[in-house]
Amino acid sequence: MKQEIGMKLKDKSAIVTGAASGIGKDIALVYAHEGAKVAIADLNMDAAEATAREIRDNGGKAMGVAMDVTDENAVNDGVAAVVKAFGGVDILVSNAGIQIVHPLEEFSYAEWKKMMAIHVDGAFLTTRACLPHMYKSGRGGSIIYMGSVHSKEASVLKAPYVTAKHGLIGLAKVIAKEGAAHGVRANVICPGFVRTPLVEKQIPEQAKTLGISEDDVIKKVMLKETVDGEFTTVEDVAEVALGRHPRLPGRRASGSARDRSRAAPRLRASLTMRTPDRTSRFRTLRLDSGDGSAQSGRARSAMPARLSRAPRVVP
Ligand SMILES: NC(=O)c1ccc[n+]([C@@H]2O[C@H](COP(=O)([O-])OP(=O)(O)OC[C@H]3O[C@@H](n4cnc5c(N)ncnc54)[C@H](O)[C@@H]3O)[C@@H](O)[C@H]2O)c1
Repeated sequence: MKQEIGMKLKDKSAIVTGAASGIGKDIALVYAHEGAKVAIADLNMDAAEATAREIRDNGGKAMGVAMDVTDENAVNDGVAAVVKAFGGVDILVSNAGIQIVHPLEEFSYAEWKKMMAIHVDGAFLTTRACLPHMYKSGRGGSIIYMGSVHSKEASVLKAPYVTAKHGLIGLAKVIAKEGAAHGVRANVICPGFVRTPLVEKQIPEQAKTLGISEDDVIKKVMLKETVDGEFTTVEDVAEVALGRHPRLPGRRASGSARDRSRAAPRLRASLTMRTPDRTSRFRTLRLDSGDGSAQSGRARSAMPARLSRAPRVVP
C-alpha cells in the first residue's frame, strides 16, 4: 500500500551515500517520505536499486546510483546524473562508511588509507561535486556528514575511524564558513551504537580481541554507558537527519507503535541532556550557515553523549 507523502522536503533533491543499507537507507526512506527526490548512492548497486524501488513502490521518487565515494570520476559522474535527473541537488548526506578494528600497531597502511579514503576523501569528493550546484541554484543547501561519538571521543582499537570522524568536524566547519554566503549549511550527526551490518560485524571481532562473549560485547562494551542499555535505532538517526527530533506517532507507515513509543524517550533524553561526556545517546554537532533560521558562520552544538569511561569501544 502506498504511503502518504509528507511535505517537509517537497521537491528537494537529496543524495545519500551508503544508502543501500543501515542508517543511510533509513534516512533515504524518511526523506522520500517527506517528499524529497532521493538518490541512493552506494557501492552496492543492486541493493541501491532495491532501496530506490522500495521508495518508488511506496509512491516516492528515487533513483539508484552506482558510486564508490573514493573514486573521483564515479562521484562526479554520479552527482552529474542526479542533477540531470532531479534538476539539482539540495541535500547531501555523506554517510557511506566502514569499520576496521585493530590495535594501532596491527593496522596495515593499506587499511589505514582505506578508512581515510571512504570516510574523509569520500566526504570531500561528494561535497566538492555537490557544492557548485547548491551555490548556482540560489536555494543554498544542506550538507550532513555522518560522524559518530568518535567525532568527539576516542576508543581503543579504532585509530583510523576516530581520526576520520574527528576530521569530518573540521570539514563541516569549513563548509559552514565557505557556504555561508551561499546559504549552504553543514551538520555532523554523531550517533552511538546502531545495530546495522557495520556493528553486527564488530560483535564477534570484539569478542575475539577482548576475550569475552558476544553477549558481553553488547552489554558490557557497546551499551554499557548508555542510559537505557539499548541500541540507538536507524529511525532515531533519520529523525535527526530530518531535523525533527521528537518522533511523531503515525508519521511513518513502517515501525510499530512500540518502536515509536520506545524511541520517544530516547530522543527526549538526547535533546534535554546537554552536558558532554556525562549524558546519553547522541552528539549532534551543528554547524549552520545562512539559510533561514541558521546563523552565518556560527557553530551550534547539541551534544548529549554517552558516559565516557575508558576503555570502551564505540562505533
Ligand atoms: N552503526 C553504528 O553504530 C554507527 C554509529 C555511528 C556512526 N555510524 C556511521 O554511519 C554510517 C553508515 O553506517 P551503517 O552502520 O549504516 O553501516 P552499513 O554497513 O549498514 O552501511 C554502509 C553502507 O555504505 C556503503 N559503502 C561502503 N563503502 C562504500 C564506498 N566506498 N562507496 C559507497 N558506498 C559505500 C555500503 O555498501 C553500505 O550500503 C557510517 O559512516 C558509519 O561510520 C554508524
